[in-house]
Amino acid sequence: MKDKILVTGGTGYIGSHTVVELQNAGYDVVIIDNLSNSNVKVLDGIEAITGIRPVFVEGDCTNIDVLRKLFEANPGIKGIINFAASKAVGESVQKPLLYYRNNLNTLINLLDLMPEFGVKGIVFSSSCTVYGEPDMNPIDETAPIKPATSPYGNTKQISEEIIEDYIKSGAPIKSILLRYFNPIGAHPSAEIGELPLGVPQNLVPYLTQAAAGIRKELTVFGNDYNTPDGSCIRDYIDVVDLAKAHVIAIKRILDKEDTDAVEIFNLGTGRGLSVLELIDSFERATGVKVPHKIGERRAGDIEKIWADPKKANEVLGWTAGVPIDETMKNAWAWQCKVTQK
Ligand code: UD1
Repeated sequence: MKDKILVTGGTGYIGSHTVVELQNAGYDVVIIDNLSNSNVKVLDGIEAITGIRPVFVEGDCTNIDVLRKLFEANPGIKGIINFAASKAVGESVQKPLLYYRNNLNTLINLLDLMPEFGVKGIVFSSSCTVYGEPDMNPIDETAPIKPATSPYGNTKQISEEIIEDYIKSGAPIKSILLRYFNPIGAHPSAEIGELPLGVPQNLVPYLTQAAAGIRKELTVFGNDYNTPDGSCIRDYIDVVDLAKAHVIAIKRILDKEDTDAVEIFNLGTGRGLSVLELIDSFERATGVKVPHKIGERRAGDIEKIWADPKKANEVLGWTAGVPIDETMKNAWAWQCKVTQK
């Protein structure tokens, strides 16, 4: 029998790509999502790719009764991949309680119910934001955690601690904490991708909207950083590569006995790209120009950060394999599809 996995936030950007990879790998998937930042039509995209419509529960994970009903109605869930969280850094500064309530209550409710319903493990979406501005790059999992610069970042740090404390207390579960660098791109079928509500805050959705003429121009936030071309450097990772890492992680939790109860992995390519290099690679890959200008620095931005993904490469046997030009082509194909609708 196939193992059943609960994917919270499964109609969201990274969640939907992970559901596809889970189904491709033979897992049964149950999604819960409150649709606060996603659309129920994403289920059609998932079904178009895999031929399977996942079980979908519209509901809010901050409500423990909703979750309890879900576990009762869908017996035999073995693992959870928890994407349900708010993720806009700027908004988290304006509405800290929303972020603490959503992100922490969701996690606490899930952890609370896991032993009762026999759920063995949880994969948690953490972020490289826990490293702050690194003292050196590439950065590995042993690097110190720096004080968070936003409530969003703080929820990631606190969530990691909550999971560690709960397991230390003897809770009969395992967890893998995945620290993502910068997920970008879309499924190569262009059936699913990122669907930002309103003005995008992140680089790639803004870039593709500028290229499509929806935004006048992209502003490069600063060109006076201490980097070769003066713009900030990040480790951009293809969303399908990222999704595949989740399948490996949940399989490791469910099928391997001799692993630590909590494990942490960086998920990145190991390569840093500047904002200007990313614009170049988009233009090279698609032949489409990105109207852009240099603007002021954005408050709170980190100058440069990229991953040392060696632990994930060696222990998980996972490597980010999609070339950046492919990622850019997929992001553009998705933007074109969304624009036509
Ligand atoms: C941030 C968070 C990260 C979070 C992610 C998802 C930090 C340090 N990082 O990533 O944890 O998971 O958001 O929301 O809190 N840029 C422009 N013009 C734009 C937009 C962005 O030049 O219009 C630049 C930024 O200055 C940055 C790079 O593009 O150098 C990437 O920005 P963005 O996509 O917003 O991601 P991060 O800030 O790296």
